[in-house]
Amino acid sequence: MSDSFVTLETTENQQDLMIKKPASGLSLHGRITVPGDKSISHRALMLGAIALGETQINGLLLGEDPRSTASCFRAMGADISQLNTEMVRVQGIGLGQLQEPVDILNAGNSGTTLRLMLGLLAAHSERLFVVTGDNSLRSRPMSRVVHPLQQMGAKIWGRQNNSFAPLAIKGQNLRPIHYHSPIASAQVKSCILLAGLMAEGQTTVTEPALSRDHSERMLQAFGAELSVDPETNSVTVTGPAKLHGQTVVVPGDISSAAFWLVAGAIVPGSELVIENVGVNPTRTGILEALAMMEADIKLENERVVAGEPVADLRVRSSSLKGCTIAGDLIPRLIDEIPILAVAGVFAQGTTIIRDAAELRVKESDRITVMATQLNQLGAKVTELPDGLEITGGTPLTGTNVDSHADHRITMSLAIAALNATNTTTIHGAEAAAVSYPDFVTTLQKICGQ
Ligand code: S3P
Repeated sequence: MSDSFVTLETTENQQDLMIKKPASGLSLHGRITVPGDKSISHRALMLGAIALGETQINGLLLGEDPRSTASCFRAMGADISQLNTEMVRVQGIGLGQLQEPVDILNAGNSGTTLRLMLGLLAAHSERLFVVTGDNSLRSRPMSRVVHPLQQMGAKIWGRQNNSFAPLAIKGQNLRPIHYHSPIASAQVKSCILLAGLMAEGQTTVTEPALSRDHSERMLQAFGAELSVDPETNSVTVTGPAKLHGQTVVVPGDISSAAFWLVAGAIVPGSELVIENVGVNPTRTGILEALAMMEADIKLENERVVAGEPVADLRVRSSSLKGCTIAGDLIPRLIDEIPILAVAGVFAQGTTIIRDAAELRVKESDRITVMATQLNQLGAKVTELPDGLEITGGTPLTGTNVDSHADHRITMSLAIAALNATNTTTIHGAEAAAVSYPDFVTTLQKICGQ
């Protein structure tokens, strides 16, 4: 390895990310931006594709996941410009007008692409669709969207009693339902709402706790008749809808900013400003959890951009305290739990994460993978059925760890490695490109490399 602190070694299909603390010590500094919000990017591409007229998307995430969405909708007739700049144009074809694709639709690693798309496909009568994904996505449960869609009249076939992709869908005229979802999942909620756009009458989804509300905001902006009852966590859409192309401005992804928030908090002597981060209240659980841990984070320049709240986040290093993260907070920080576990490793006392069994069915089993990989580095992490118990304050020693092909695991381990002695090598670091293609470049920049 060279003298550089952060290096990436690329072989044919795999990248190793190596991190070795310089002898002179390390602190992180700079003003940075993060790529566009992944959830909003998917929705902008999809609603753009099914609206009438042109949608212009500014700040689209150019990661692997939105590329999967774009290629699926192109295969069904939407005209989506190349994803080589963050300004992307979509010529919509109108609701109900997706064409039967001539080949299998591949959602890659993206659960959001597959689950949201299923709602639309199920409602396209007389057309046949076959959808699949990579190894990870083919092992993630689809019954959570297949069952409610079947209640609406959908015809879907798949492995293990229609639970896993590949799935075949024969589109139908769907009927509206009131679905009481057993899980707080924005993918489930959004799938049913998208199906409801084409079912005549009112389709309602009630969830046990509030999940991210980007679909609701964007559907209203595109002209759908949609109402929200915050008392009962219910959303109702009235079909058939008519959507009109819009200009969408995608804020920076707080789930990507989370890596820098924790890095800035745990690496002594650091100060970072992360500009233009989306701070939609359904996503800011990470800020509340880090506040409980006594992190020094300030919101600056708060504003609303195209219907989504945005701020610059300033983080200064401080000593963290363990805390308990559970209950209704979990859906508001579900994707940030791997990096919160890293914060817990460097906090004094015990950090407990509960009510997060959903982590077992993400891009990897994030409970088992974070526990084994952090313990490999010398941390004290115990798996719980629905979370993690972390005893903070044990020093970490660099060694070989593995991303398990999961973008958020890769980036969380890289941040943990910043505070480890010796060299940490993260195998499978190419996974970061799913949501953050420039992660390593930004890491090098804030390390002054
Ligand atoms: C997402 C919802 C969440 C989240 C995922 C993106 C979305 O999944 O974990 O990364 O864009 O709707 P669930 O709905 O399965 O909780």
